[in-house]
Amino acid sequence: MSSVPEVFDTLSYGPAPEDTSAVREWLAAHAAGFRLFIGGQWKPSHGDEPRIACLNPANGEVLSSLTQSCAQDLDDAVAGAQAAFPSWSKSGYERARVLYALGRLIQKHSRFFAVLESLDNGKPIRETRDLDVPLAARHFTYHAGWAQLVGRELADHEPLGVVGQIIPWNFPLLMLAWKIAPALAAGNCVILKPAEDTSLTALFFASLCADAAVPPGVVNILTGDGRVGELIVQHPGIAKIAFTGSTEVGRLIRRSTAGTGKSLTLELGGKSPFVVLEDADLDAAVEGLIDAIWFNQGQVCCAGSRLIVEESVLAALVSKIKTRLTHMRIGDPLDKAIDMGALITPAHRQRVQGLVEQAQAQGASVWQPEIPLPRQGAFYPPTLLTDVSPANIVWREEVFGPVLATTSFRTLQEAVELANNTRYGLAATLYTENINRALELAVKLKAGVVWINTTNQLDAACGFGGIRESGFGREGGLEGMLDYLRERDAWLATPAASATDDEPSGRPAARARLARAGRMLAEALPVEPAGGPTTAAPPRGVIDRTFKNFIGGKQARPDGGLSLPINDARGNLAGWVACGNRKDIRDAVEAAWRAERWSEASTHLRSQILFYFGENLALRRNELADRLRRLTGRRAAECRAEVNAAIARLFAYGGWADKYDGLIHTPPVRSISLAVPEPIGVVGVVCPDEAPVLAFISLLAPVIAMGNRCVIVPSERMPLPAMDLCQVIETSDVPAGVVNIVTGDRDELTETLAQHDQVDCLWYFGTAEGSAQVEAWAAPTVKRSWVNHGRRRDWMSERHGEGRTFLRQATQVKNIWLPYGDFA
Ligand code: NAI
Repeated sequence: MSSVPEVFDTLSYGPAPEDTSAVREWLAAHAAGFRLFIGGQWKPSHGDEPRIACLNPANGEVLSSLTQSCAQDLDDAVAGAQAAFPSWSKSGYERARVLYALGRLIQKHSRFFAVLESLDNGKPIRETRDLDVPLAARHFTYHAGWAQLVGRELADHEPLGVVGQIIPWNFPLLMLAWKIAPALAAGNCVILKPAEDTSLTALFFASLCADAAVPPGVVNILTGDGRVGELIVQHPGIAKIAFTGSTEVGRLIRRSTAGTGKSLTLELGGKSPFVVLEDADLDAAVEGLIDAIWFNQGQVCCAGSRLIVEESVLAALVSKIKTRLTHMRIGDPLDKAIDMGALITPAHRQRVQGLVEQAQAQGASVWQPEIPLPRQGAFYPPTLLTDVSPANIVWREEVFGPVLATTSFRTLQEAVELANNTRYGLAATLYTENINRALELAVKLKAGVVWINTTNQLDAACGFGGIRESGFGREGGLEGMLDYLRERDAWLATPAASATDDEPSGRPAARARLARAGRMLAEALPVEPAGGPTTAAPPRGVIDRTFKNFIGGKQARPDGGLSLPINDARGNLAGWVACGNRKDIRDAVEAAWRAERWSEASTHLRSQILFYFGENLALRRNELADRLRRLTGRRAAECRAEVNAAIARLFAYGGWADKYDGLIHTPPVRSISLAVPEPIGVVGVVCPDEAPVLAFISLLAPVIAMGNRCVIVPSERMPLPAMDLCQVIETSDVPAGVVNIVTGDRDELTETLAQHDQVDCLWYFGTAEGSAQVEAWAAPTVKRSWVNHGRRRDWMSERHGEGRTFLRQATQVKNIWLPYGDFA
């Protein structure tokens, strides 16, 4: 007997087309095509590139055409935006009024926007009307509030200037709102490039800017393909790039902005898990799946595309999914009774189909409902894949189509492993009626957003964004605002001391010292050892002390068997440190990975250990200050002050460890969202040469206070004080592997850290060139990085040397959504 609810058998739907006449009139008025929106006016391009046709994905109809912008168009837009910036960034109240007016205008024209979006993108009118447009309006009104408040609530911050924003085709209006609203609220001016397949709602939005009294130059819309995106990314007048799109283009943008000092946020692809436990409400889970993977034809970066079901309910759930899919209606996106519209282009449909065929060839079983599909247009049926192995292409690659891949699990541990076994980390959904299991899983799933018993919930108040290859940065909420601001006066005008300052030859200092080590050893030893100029162990009598690396809680001899001499301020030998290499960094990263329990430890415990660390350092304060005096030649009082500040800093982070604990948002749906700052994982830290004790502690302490494990490279020129600290760390109950110290050639060690795919984030405080290298090396794995671009911070200052900026850089916010019921 069929389990189909009776209601499905009795209902039949006639067509319920939406009225498109107002939109058609507008399109007819632009039959010759659209110009560019620059400086508050519609301008033709300076170039003569062919125009881009706007096509309706549902039937191939030509709707209009777009201008392909050129470099000179962009120059004009940037110049206009720069001119508008000083007065726009001044008054929060004026910005609030404008943003509120934009929100109201979107509401006023909501039907128009919904119809235009469905025509241009192929998504069902039900979705544009009920989701895209209201959420876009909410983004503007929410950020109107931030515009008013930012000056006093985030007074230590300032806007960046002109921001370049590049968005994809899957949520054209909503992505515009996510980008433009926070940027304007923060006081920036924007240049936005919509996707070439879906620019019409952005152009209609531009036409409303005058009604909302947006000053000329504050919002600029430049249409065109990826080449225009590249121009924006490379433009020197642009202070930040905000990108949403494919991971591949995200990597290109990371590489091309490396070293420019441009701020960057990337919202990239995903392969999000949808976990169903045996105690879940299976009917609710099926409706969740409809929203997770068949909403917007699956063309959603956070789509729940990997179904992971407890084995005991696999058959029941699959049967319910099939029944539900048999009643999906696919067709004209403008029909109000349609569940699924068209994919974005015929080429994309081909790609989706190709991936499904590959999945089948790799052993997956393919099931599609027998439901009518329109003959014309880029339509593809909802598709269920079962027996999908973790090696199958659809388990690993983003399909960006209505295709669900399914597997089962037996234990919760296995569910977590399957869910986290991906290079992405955007979102995760889980269904269970057991709150304990739900929260335990929510913490363990590696994703920027977790939905419990709901899915694809989005709101302006709740940060959205990923980890790992899903990118970095957040959109929405406080985190989203901070990504459009920078700290005021955070960096000093004088550049950071370079490790090569003492090397007239310009050779990296550690390498030069290594050569010098060879000479010294040759003088000390009667016979130079065969096979090379240096030796593993410096000879007796030449040194006062040789430090090894500190890895996994133990002193570890450097892999290369080489040591580096370190001189004091008078040029006398002060000691030797290990000359670490790639292998030492790899060992240190492995040790840090093994110390995973630190990330799960209670914040209370972390706090206690930091206080204990501070106390133990206080016991050694005179010895360390004296070491610092001899090494730097600075006055004794100055050195004591640096050590005292380092002790105070450990106490400060002991305080922060259990106080930097997130927010609770109350979006306007029956849900709360917990914004939890989580550790990033393994963080590499490369220290500057100035303030060798204080900078070391100022960087290490926030990283471990927030639950990360650390591989730290101390000052290349003055690593001895950091090595003195190993004993303090050993006696302070810091678990083995939480802090790993490798000394040596800063550039060489940095390269290995930046390229290591198990290092989740890298902080680099060295030269401008080194900063550029770090950002470029980080591109293939889309690693998060924080670099100084060769500038210095005032480490002695509490405002610039410690606090929220460091804590933010040491954490990633996970938003956990919890819906609640209605007793009414
Ligand atoms: P894409 O990443 O190529 O395009 C996104 C935006 O970036 C568009 O505005 C495009 O013109 C622009 N762009 C392209 N190349 C650029 C470059 N070199 N520099 C700067 N901007 C550039 O995405 P596409 O080709 O539209 O879709 C390909 C795949 O990417 C999809 O099948 C899907 O897997 C994924 N995707 C993910 C999205 C997400 O929200 N995470 C959104 C769209 C696509």
